[in-house]
Amino acid sequence: MSTTAVPPAKTTKPEAAAAFARGLEGVIAGESAICSVEQGKLIYRGYEIHDLAANATFEQVAFLLLEGHRPSDAELQRFKAEVVAERPLHPAVTAFIESAGGWLASGRAVPMDVLRTAVSILGHLDPDAQDNSVPANLRKSKRLLAKIPTIIGHMQNVIDGKAIIGREHGGDPALDHAANLLFLMTGAKPTREYARVIDVSLILYAEHDFNASTFTSRCIAGTLSDMHGAVCGGIAALKGSLHGGANEMAMEMLKEIMRDVGEKAIGTKAVDDWMQRAFDTKRKLMGFGHRVYKNGDHRAPILHKLGRGIAATDSKNPGGHPALKWFELGEQVQKIMLDKKNIHPNVDFPCGLTYYTMGIPVPQYTPIFVASRITGWCAHICEQHANNRLIRPLSLYTGPTETKWNG
Ligand code: CMC
Repeated sequence: MSTTAVPPAKTTKPEAAAAFARGLEGVIAGESAICSVEQGKLIYRGYEIHDLAANATFEQVAFLLLEGHRPSDAELQRFKAEVVAERPLHPAVTAFIESAGGWLASGRAVPMDVLRTAVSILGHLDPDAQDNSVPANLRKSKRLLAKIPTIIGHMQNVIDGKAIIGREHGGDPALDHAANLLFLMTGAKPTREYARVIDVSLILYAEHDFNASTFTSRCIAGTLSDMHGAVCGGIAALKGSLHGGANEMAMEMLKEIMRDVGEKAIGTKAVDDWMQRAFDTKRKLMGFGHRVYKNGDHRAPILHKLGRGIAATDSKNPGGHPALKWFELGEQVQKIMLDKKNIHPNVDFPCGLTYYTMGIPVPQYTPIFVASRITGWCAHICEQHANNRLIRPLSLYTGPTETKWNG
């Protein structure tokens, strides 16, 4: 651990004010061996993201993050078998998901809320729930990794008014993790191309050092609270539109532009005018900008290329427009953002476009992000528990000066 001098608790106000960074920007809040987010690179345990996206599978990346090293073939087979065996849900969790259909239909709950509650119930049923030891945390990580896609799939079946798919086995044991997620949601086995695109999106989303949801999970774990609680906190943090919720909001924004300007106006000044109105009202455009990356998010072009590839060859027609139209609109919006604001898209922008092209319902985009980021969260919770110190920063007091209650 670092021996850097820590300011005493009674830091004077000017000292505290000088140390203050709004939104903790630029603050190093801990050490981690899991991931390095750099302007020029994104690294998972020593492996660069382009390399992983081109050459690894999500299961390999999940193993890398959770177990700490690249798996051998035998280790990968064992890991995959363990995860497949953990896919089915306890009937109590499925019953809860079925009971949530009304809340989902009425909009009182969105899929991220139902997923958060379902994960909380998983905690009640987990034999290792209160055990924060390394082996117990690893067992819980694998169970969460396995069961979250099943929750998402069952929830989509309930939303669609369909019978639960894969109630007994949590899908098709012969399918890999990403393909099984799509199968659970739709009942159809995806094409190899679709399965690979989802798999790569899961690789890209898996880990990103001290982002808001991971930091939340670490704060919770740092009190020596349990993994399921820390993951529920992570889900709540990811839901927000400034974080993971941006993949849904980015697509909603593109749908809004398409509605406002019409398909024929793509490529014309009408889109520039729409954007100018957004700039004039200081609107935050979803799927753009990043706290750390100021020259672009390394993950975005990887997913954009794959999604565009699907759109170019796909006759699917979500929202009544040819699939490629969405990418053409998205590319025009990206160009305007870069030209006028010098702001690049983050991974959530191509994610929205890609998942939409694949016909995935928009409210499931952030839950699918959870299906991936669960690996990063669990790796961080394990790391925090294994070398814990309570996370307890200071605040800069801006309230009234001291006053006597009876004075
Ligand atoms: N649209 C319009 N202007 C923006 C945007 C945007 N998306 N992002 C940043 N800016 C402007 C911002 O208004 C500010 O301008 P000014 O200096 O004139 O006030 C300037 O750029 C600096 O931005 P900031 O607010 O200091 O940046 P931040 O580091 O606090 O915020 C962010 C980062 C990601 C919250 C922000 O860029 C944002 O709100 N983006 C939209 C939501 C989004 O896409 N989130 C996903 C984040 S990455 C992946 C993930 O976590 O899922």
